[in-house]
Amino acid sequence: MSEKIEVRKGLVGVYADESSISKVMPETNSLTYRGYAVQDLCEEASFDETAYLLWNGELPNRSQLSAFQAEEKANRALSPALLRVLRDFPQDAHPMDAIRTAVSFMGMEDPDTADVSEPAQRRKAMRLLAKIPVAVAAAHRLSKGEEPIAPDASLPFCENFFHMVFGKVPQKEVIRAFDVSMILYAEHTFNASTFTARTITSTMADMHGAITGGIAALKGPLHGGANEAVMHMLKEIPSPEAAGEWIKDKFEHKALVMGFGHRVYKNGDSRVPTMKKYAELMAEVVGDKRWMITSAVLADIMLRQKNIHPNLDFPAGPAYYLMGFDIPLFTPIFVCSRITGWAAHVIEQGADNRLIRPLSLYTGPEQRNVVPIDQR
Ligand code: ACO
Repeated sequence: MSEKIEVRKGLVGVYADESSISKVMPETNSLTYRGYAVQDLCEEASFDETAYLLWNGELPNRSQLSAFQAEEKANRALSPALLRVLRDFPQDAHPMDAIRTAVSFMGMEDPDTADVSEPAQRRKAMRLLAKIPVAVAAAHRLSKGEEPIAPDASLPFCENFFHMVFGKVPQKEVIRAFDVSMILYAEHTFNASTFTARTITSTMADMHGAITGGIAALKGPLHGGANEAVMHMLKEIPSPEAAGEWIKDKFEHKALVMGFGHRVYKNGDSRVPTMKKYAELMAEVVGDKRWMITSAVLADIMLRQKNIHPNLDFPAGPAYYLMGFDIPLFTPIFVCSRITGWAAHVIEQGADNRLIRPLSLYTGPEQRNVVPIDQR
């Protein structure tokens, strides 16, 4: 009986539902959001426009975009209670744990938490998009013993994030590279964190619960945590010339090389060429090419010896480092972007919901009698 049941460990190759949000085409290494190629969005649109697209199905016109941006700016402020909670976090808390807890707390304060109707879900999505970067920046500064910097409503989304982290806005090339990374990180079908968010939503639990779960799933180094792991790895390699020996040791120990491989793409991640171009631009702007040189050596060896391609986290890690971000902020930045995709999926799941509840193939002992405790 049990031989006939096929278990797809890791749900490899399983279509769990339909979705109209994004499409991954591994055969052509391409990715579309609502029908638009992601690299075209990077060149022709902004992260704000992409967020609007993911939530509304169409790109905004100028007045729709202005209204969307105004709403985002109007929702940035954190409550005094949340700011107090952020101050009470352990100083060495990982920023992913801080933002996970902050989002959970926001759920307790949100007037629409219990309302899972679509208009209420959209209002909550906007509040999360606006508040998550503020909480990420505030928690990070507090962890370094610095005072949070309040959001500046005169600044667009990306500029405001740099303002809140560093107290200043960098040159436009840096903002552009950051904006591109945010577009590329925004959405990617049924990845682990998105599927987690959909699973939570399928029980008719609230959006903040779904996003809190998504953040928890994203932290893992096999998923979003890889962008931090990539930079730790690059820093471990003393020079580009040492990369060959370093990777040989990884192969001998059957260790993972972070930022490589992907469950869906086997011939290259659609997002890598665009992110790599902007990471190289950052290296030029900053005048420090060593990370990109070492990256190129690693990518060449991985392809020649293992036939494994880099994923988005591989160029995103050094790009964020070159922008000046501390490594523990890399995955929280991913959260600031992916909230758009997660929320789109929470709304889509809720609109045509069926409880997600797969089966497990039991491999434990046959049914047996319970022996009373004195006889065991
Ligand atoms: N380094 C070394 N070997 C690897 C790597 C890697 N990064 N990735 C895959 N392999 C190996 C596997 O060990 C496996 O070897 P085996 O056949 O000898 O057992 C083989 O390649 C095939 O692996 P897959 O079955 O294709 O891997 P899977 O789909 O289960 O996992 C994953 C995909 C988790 C992304 C994996 O490639 C990995 O761990 N990569 C490193 C972490 C990482 O970069 N994650 C970011 C993902 S993208 C994102 O979240 C934005």
